[in-house]
Amino acid sequence: MRKKIVAGNWKMNMDLKEGIALAKDLNSHFLANPLKHNNEVILCSPFIHLASVSPVLTAPGLSGGAQNCNDHKSGAYTGEVSAAMIRSTGALYVILGHSERRTLFGEDDALLAAKTTEALRNGLRVIFCCGEVLAEREKGIHFDVVKRHIEKGLFMLERDEFSKCIIAYEPVWAIGTGVTATPAQAQEMHHFIRGLVEGHYGKEAAEETIILYGGSCKASNAAELFANADVDGGLIGGASLVKEEFCAIVSAL
Ligand code: PGA
Repeated sequence: MRKKIVAGNWKMNMDLKEGIALAKDLNSHFLANPLKHNNEVILCSPFIHLASVSPVLTAPGLSGGAQNCNDHKSGAYTGEVSAAMIRSTGALYVILGHSERRTLFGEDDALLAAKTTEALRNGLRVIFCCGEVLAEREKGIHFDVVKRHIEKGLFMLERDEFSKCIIAYEPVWAIGTGVTATPAQAQEMHHFIRGLVEGHYGKEAAEETIILYGGSCKASNAAELFANADVDGGLIGGASLVKEEFCAIVSAL
């Protein structure tokens, strides 16, 4: 039975003190209200928070992650952070391929494949994002776009490496806009993605792959999104910054 996961993507929000306070609050909540055995919660904080947040996360099933990493092992890359550095903080995950990285920072498929490989090599698990922009959906090429993201970013991996990746479908038109994909739209794309995985790695791998939905997911719509057979939880941006809202989303698992 694959896990159900809610991951918070804090993006570039909260200073160190605020980040630690939220992590502590959430940890206390999940100590008092333990997660179900196949549920997991991941907090993806800014780099600067990682070393302070990771040790705070002691509740079973609660872990930390980063939002990006460099594709090189080490060296003269001023301002960059390596996968090994992230892992050394105790963080277990890294988000790669987020649409904001693709669009605002020009990250392409080849770079993301290299980052994914480097992250896995250093013992991180990858939350790999894919998703179309509105114009692509309107043109009816959203399946092609998602197929390309996944084929180029993940399908170079061996099966055992791929099994350490979580896929997050995030339609770009739903990110931070308040417009959420309908449960039917989410299920349709998640089913398509699972089919791609089956075609490449086989049925067993497809059944094991965790596919999260992201894009204006909040407490009021999480349950109807998570109720779909192929939606295994969510990647949460704005709503992950407010304890009550985030905990309500986790309860919807
Ligand atoms: P949102 O962001 O929940 O604020 O729409 C989701 C994401 O970008 O991961």
